[in-house]
Amino acid sequence: MDLVVNDAIEYVRSFFEGDFTGHDFSHTMRVFSLATKIAKIENARLQIVQLAALLHDVDDRKLSPHTTEELINARTFLKSQNLDESVIEHICHIITQVSFKGKDSVTPDTIEGMCVQDADRLDALGAVGIARAFAYGGANHRAMYDPLVPPAVNMSEEEYFQSKSTTLNHFYEKLFLLKDMMNTPTARYIAEKREEYMKGFVERFLFEWEGKS
Ligand code: ADP
Ligand code: NI
Repeated sequence: MDLVVNDAIEYVRSFFEGDFTGHDFSHTMRVFSLATKIAKIENARLQIVQLAALLHDVDDRKLSPHTTEELINARTFLKSQNLDESVIEHICHIITQVSFKGKDSVTPDTIEGMCVQDADRLDALGAVGIARAFAYGGANHRAMYDPLVPPAVNMSEEEYFQSKSTTLNHFYEKLFLLKDMMNTPTARYIAEKREEYMKGFVERFLFEWEGKS
């Protein structure tokens, strides 16, 4: 494996030590694996995809608000490696484009960015996606479900980040929108299977919520 990629894995392993908010090391490694798989099929440049995937959350505004704007953590790591300035800029550009921001989300302008954004979004879907959503909801003191609070769709970036909705609403406010936002056919295919599984989960959840058996 690429030596810089190896170093980046060790960097994120120590960076995320002790974090359990769903932006953890295991999430980063799943995004790395999914992005690698998509990049190979889509013929994207592997080193750029892999480094952007590994570093995509080290300046996340929820975890590290004071480094988010300038991507200080990612840049400090990348500058410590023997990389071309253009490669560093491309990776940082991808990281700024990856995040979900309601209807203000952006479509990456390179195939490498598309692979990383798709991989990050795929990890919000499926069984792991369900678990991450409830882990996030618990950590942020949100109710799992409230039939009196309807989901808000079409939120702007500001509305999305201010929202105090329930975790089940998050499925409608974000998770079920992701399949149609995938950039690559490879990711869309994986997303379809994961969404189908989640729809079954929500149906069952609502059935049991009412005390039915
Ligand atoms: P991204 O990686 O696209 O920036 P986020 O930081 O918004 O995604 O979310 C990280 C994880 O936390 C995802 O699995 C997401 O579904 C979950 N999450 C984010 N916001 C909420 C919420 N309001 N309720 C439940 N889960 C959430
Ligand atoms: Ni992420």
